Amino acid sequence: MCGIVGYIGTQNAVPILMEGLSRLEYRGYDSAGVAIMSPQGTKVFRQVGRVRELEAALPGRLSGRAGIAHTRWATHGPVTQANAHPQVSQDRRVSVVHNGIIDNADDLREALASRGAVFASETDTEVVAHLIALASAATLEDAVLEALRSVTGTYALAVTDERHPDRIVVARNGSPLILGVGDREMFVASDLSALVRHTTSVVHLDDGEVACVTASGYRTFSRDATDIAKLPTRIDLDLADVDLAGHEHFMRKEILEQPDSIERMIRGRLDERFGAVRLDGLNLTPRELRGFRRVKMLGCGSAYYVGQVGAQMIEDLARMPADAEPASEFRYRNPVIEPDTLYVAVSQSGETADTAFAVREVKRKGGQVVGLVNVVGSTIARECDGGIYLHAGPEIAVASTKALTHMAIGFAMLALVLGRVRDLSISDGQRIVAGLQRLGDQIGSVLADEARIADVAGALAQAQSLFFIGRVRGYPVAREGAQKFKEVSYRHAEAYQASELKHGPLALIDEELPTVAIVPDDELTGRNLAAIEQIKARNGRVAVVTHPGVPASAGEAWRITVPKNEPELDPILLTVPLQLLAYHAARALGHDIDKPRNLAKSVTVE
Ligand code: F6R
Repeated sequence: MCGIVGYIGTQNAVPILMEGLSRLEYRGYDSAGVAIMSPQGTKVFRQVGRVRELEAALPGRLSGRAGIAHTRWATHGPVTQANAHPQVSQDRRVSVVHNGIIDNADDLREALASRGAVFASETDTEVVAHLIALASAATLEDAVLEALRSVTGTYALAVTDERHPDRIVVARNGSPLILGVGDREMFVASDLSALVRHTTSVVHLDDGEVACVTASGYRTFSRDATDIAKLPTRIDLDLADVDLAGHEHFMRKEILEQPDSIERMIRGRLDERFGAVRLDGLNLTPRELRGFRRVKMLGCGSAYYVGQVGAQMIEDLARMPADAEPASEFRYRNPVIEPDTLYVAVSQSGETADTAFAVREVKRKGGQVVGLVNVVGSTIARECDGGIYLHAGPEIAVASTKALTHMAIGFAMLALVLGRVRDLSISDGQRIVAGLQRLGDQIGSVLADEARIADVAGALAQAQSLFFIGRVRGYPVAREGAQKFKEVSYRHAEAYQASELKHGPLALIDEELPTVAIVPDDELTGRNLAAIEQIKARNGRVAVVTHPGVPASAGEAWRITVPKNEPELDPILLTVPLQLLAYHAARALGHDIDKPRNLAKSVTVE
């Protein structure tokens, strides 16, 4: 989704902003632009398409010590050069880049037009540029505050003004914005990855906060101009985390990172002796944990599917009723919030608008919500009452892989915590702890089978449409497999409970529509194999993702085997080959794997 980067300091802003934009490309965008405060005044360039196309359109001699830049993901108005950001005021003095949506843009546009304003774009952002330019205030900070008083909606804004070339003013409401502190220079970004090359000292703005940034520092204040003291914090991120490091795609790099990243996540948290786990960040005492009677997971897309995996783990290990619901639905249905339910918001980015709104809805009604979040300091992480950081490292590919594995492990840990304050025995706890410790190596052995999985993917990629089936623990695995496959291969992939096939979808099976079947070695293996037979009887071809020792069914066209762990943890391992299947299908089809069409990395709009 949209990205912002800004710079002010002693260096030429142009290469810094362009490099920053390229770091934000992964978020998904359709156009890009930059405003440079040059000695000759503000120079604005905008381009539909890739950042490299914008870069090619910039004059070679362009330079300036300050500037703002943007990648746009269209919301108001189609993808055109005029609608790309920065948007400028009528006199071209004020430039604005904006993430989010101004809700009252139409009313403001009408009011401004009646005062003679002429608009050059269809964006909601342009009204903000006009409002700031027309403000009566003497300083840019005050002009921005004055404009914001009439604006409702969500925003991360960065503003420059030719009359005040020594500063950038930024504001946040509902869309992330971070300041980077350098040596006689300051950075602004909507995402840490745009800052990591320059500084590890950052200031996270909170909703309702505004900052004035100059080469020598920053001042933060509220929308009513009250100063707010904010100290920088250190981020634990290095450049290698956000570089391809020789890989062809981030998606594959991130899949391959899993054995190491998992090790980082579980290190120091597992307690072998008591078959338990330490999750200090939850901020819940054993007595409070015991007081919950239900658990509800809230997340979107793949995070919701992992929530279903987590719900099953909690039912299995803690014997508490647990379920998952898309946060995007939950927030709109006036949910009943129960005081004895533990709500768990799950999100890689920590910025997904629907999940953040669901968190606020739970809190507004007095519920208790903890987060399973990857990005440290993100909105959801900060708004939850406590949580478990996933420590997956930055995830750049739009299609989520390693973060989902970490979410599932986070749920296993939460299930262990909830289980051990109830009836889960020490020995069962130790069994799960040992299972978690085996996961890294076992994922390594799935990854070692990549060449064969790639062959299966090449064959499946030929089909226009596929089914993914699973049962009970295998069903959310199938859902996630279908999701990943459709996101990057653009093939129609649909997940069904294996048990539901005969109630309708079997009608679609023929030799053209292959099925990927999740068949763990468990109490349901026989039933899963029977479903495969039914598919075969309709000439369907089946790729079976299974454990060693599961008998081959006559219907099998391909087999992918993953090591067996504990039944509760098996969904984690069964998902890994499906990541590679999706990746290699997309690669065989020649798609832009890290930036699939129409998708954005973090969905910060409604
Ligand atoms: C799928 C995918 C999305 C995200 C969803 C939630 O590969 O990446 O379905 O899982 O948009 O995003 P987060 O986890 O950032 O809240």
